[in-house]
Amino acid sequence: MSQYDLLVSRITNCTSCGLSDGRTNAVPGSGSLDADIMFIGEGPGFHEDRQGVPFVGQAGNLLNHMLSVIGLSREDVYITNMVKCRPPNNRDPFPGELEACAPYLDEQLELINPKVIVTLGRFSFTRFFPGQSIGRSRGKPRKWREYMVFPMYHPAAALHNPGLRPVLEDDFAALPGVIEQVIEQRTGEPEPEEQPAQQLSMFE
Ligand code: URA
Repeated sequence: MSQYDLLVSRITNCTSCGLSDGRTNAVPGSGSLDADIMFIGEGPGFHEDRQGVPFVGQAGNLLNHMLSVIGLSREDVYITNMVKCRPPNNRDPFPGELEACAPYLDEQLELINPKVIVTLGRFSFTRFFPGQSIGRSRGKPRKWREYMVFPMYHPAAALHNPGLRPVLEDDFAALPGVIEQVIEQRTGEPEPEEQPAQQLSMFE
């Protein structure tokens, strides 16, 4: 069994918090394990709980649409959530539930090692930048450890508040550029042997 399959099996059998009591299925994540982009939402809703797959309801339809506009499909990216089991009546996850589930997300990050983490909504955003405002931070790529984090509003927020939809569209439109920026930063660093020559020419 691969390390990823082992992780999925631990998630589907997890009883670390009370959310496991009410689940039909745990929802570990879906998509490509080689993805450049990892989307992190909040937690499964009704349809996700039924199917064991993240973002398959209305918010998922909007996410699929936004991906298609930039030429991507769900199979090109990896999608997961902060908590892997549905909170009752879609309430916000409690701090203890987020904490119990956090090691799974850490392992997913390590295994998939994406170039860009897209946080959808405030729960995943504050996982990386606690106490900060999503409204002020969305659309601005920021480094967190070795990762680039690109905060966005949650698609469900754009469904509830149509005024946010163009903002989300703009952020999706910027995503390919953010990935290119990360690739350039990683490959554009000068080769170590080039440095002495550059330094010399500065004093010529
Ligand atoms: N909202 C989320 O945050 N995640 C899902 O998987 C579905 C809706």
